[in-house]
Amino acid sequence: MEQAEAVLSPRHPHGDPVTRPQHRELPHRAPYGVQHTALHVVSLHRPSSGVRASRTSLSELLRAGQMGVSGHFIPPGRGAGRRDRRTPRATLSCRCPGGTLTRRPASNSTGRSASYRLVRGLPSTRAGGGRRPPRRRTVMRAGLDVLIVDDEPRVCEFVRDALSGCRVIESHSGPHALDLIRSADFDVVLLDLKMPGWGGLEVLRALAGDGAVPAVVILTGYGDLDSAVAAMRLGARDYLRKPIGVDSLRQAVLSAAGGGRRGGPSVLPEPPALAGDVAADAPGLLGADPKIRAVRGLVEEVAPTTATVLITGETGTGKELVAGMIHRGSPRAAGPFVVVDCPSVPVSLFESEVFGHERGAFTGAVSARRGKLEDADRGSLFLDEVGELTLDVQPKLLRFLQERRVARIGRGRAVQVDVRVIAASNRDLRAMVSQGTFRADLFHRLDVVPVELPPLRERQGDIPLLVTHFVARFCRALGVAPKAVPPECLGWLVEYAWPGNVRELENVIQRACILSRGATLTPDALPARLSGGRTPDALDADRAESLATVDRRHVLDVLRREGGNISRAARILGIHRATLYRRLLALGLRPERVLDRASG
Ligand SMILES: Nc1ncnc2c1ncn2[C@@H]1O[C@H](COP(=O)(O)OP(=O)(O)OP(=O)(O)O)[C@@H](O)[C@H]1O
Ligand SMILES: [Mg+2]
Repeated sequence: MEQAEAVLSPRHPHGDPVTRPQHRELPHRAPYGVQHTALHVVSLHRPSSGVRASRTSLSELLRAGQMGVSGHFIPPGRGAGRRDRRTPRATLSCRCPGGTLTRRPASNSTGRSASYRLVRGLPSTRAGGGRRPPRRRTVMRAGLDVLIVDDEPRVCEFVRDALSGCRVIESHSGPHALDLIRSADFDVVLLDLKMPGWGGLEVLRALAGDGAVPAVVILTGYGDLDSAVAAMRLGARDYLRKPIGVDSLRQAVLSAAGGGRRGGPSVLPEPPALAGDVAADAPGLLGADPKIRAVRGLVEEVAPTTATVLITGETGTGKELVAGMIHRGSPRAAGPFVVVDCPSVPVSLFESEVFGHERGAFTGAVSARRGKLEDADRGSLFLDEVGELTLDVQPKLLRFLQERRVARIGRGRAVQVDVRVIAASNRDLRAMVSQGTFRADLFHRLDVVPVELPPLRERQGDIPLLVTHFVARFCRALGVAPKAVPPECLGWLVEYAWPGNVRELENVIQRACILSRGATLTPDALPARLSGGRTPDALDADRAESLATVDRRHVLDVLRREGGNISRAARILGIHRATLYRRLLALGLRPERVLDRASG
């Protein structure tokens, strides 16, 4: 007998923000046929994935034993909605089509809540042989059948557009994808490695355990090469780095399908003219610098939780980008992402904008209006530039963060909303607290998980990568091949201090792509401030020397940051360790003494 586990956190007496929105009050005769017992289900989820079920899929999933259940049983005779506190455990089980639903042995000792598991009456799937249901071709049509597994809907959308002519099925979680792959034939599966809960590797491992890995192409983020190698060992055919280009995607799908069981067509139909590479427009936080990697790691860790996050960093460092990543990486990704741009909301309208108002609540309130907090229910609220809030409105926000309840202006009754708050500021809120311009209590409510974005000048090593990315993106939008970036231009771009950070770089590259007519970015297409006001001609004489200086300084900077570790520095510089060794010698530096020079 196999046991399908069902574990969820106990429900908080006042409505835990984690479980409350998943609450489903099922009818006494639950759709999957639980008998003799009314079941007040707090949450239904797939084990280990946290994916919520819709009511319609519930009966099917539970019957198949794939759905975990946790909740409170109310034995017959008691009203629904009351918790069971005294009923002996023995009575807390019931039969349902898939088997018996029973209380977990290690249930909450207070008796206030309990979780249950479904003990299935199905043959064990661990015993070899005929454990897998026969393959059914349920999703086939003309052309290739492609499954895209990615938690980011924009990536799925991009794949769908890029693979026009193929039938593309989407899945946003590992366990769901595994179910699909096991029950239908796909020519190619595009599998994201990093997803909340089960990632691509877990799916591959399960498929490898089945002994039937389909043609899988892995989608990896930047710096995920080790996992991509592990995936290839588990049977993946190929991997693609995000952001994905249309051509490389089509090529990878074609060759993966060609080697597949069914043999594939030799050409894919041409895609229609694309408005742009959507995936490349949402690339995530690019960069190999340790500081930006640390931010990515933190984002991955914090995204699946409900913790309030405070993102700080100078203008243009990617605060909004990170806020979006946190939302998309959370279980509430399908919910709304609502932005409140604090500086642009007049103080007098802040309360109405955020909390909403009833009709007639004040002069001009001709109709009732929901506030942003209600709009963000079951999603995330992004308070951008929260440091701009005046002391008048700060207490209102604080009260919400304490109580998680919203009372529209003119309505006495407050309603509970389930909102994850992400705040950002380019100001030093701590300093503002000491100056008395930002409330300390509000700061601490917001600063639960601080995420600090480094200025671009502190990660110069990432500039070439960002330049390549933006050149590719803007050239694609212009419908031309990516332009080359000559070394002198790259030198200026790397050397410049970028007070406007990545946004300024992005704008400079966009302008340069438009102004450069040929296949190469031209120096005069870059703003004069980058070259210190000197014209390209004036630079001719000292160009070789200044590039050597730039090169040397950059190499030393990276080495300093990496504590003199040549392997790590080489990885960041994007060159082989031996190349860096040679470069150091060419620059007149002795590699074994380089740390002294780097720290000097
Ligand atoms: N690490 C990065 N990789 C790729 N693109 C980035 C990165 N950081 C920022 N960007 C891009 O730079 C632009 C500015 O980012 P964003 O709006 O998130 O910055 P911000 O910190 O919110 O700026 P501001 O304080 O001015 O509001 C966006 O187009 C974003 O996609
Ligand atoms: Mg911003």
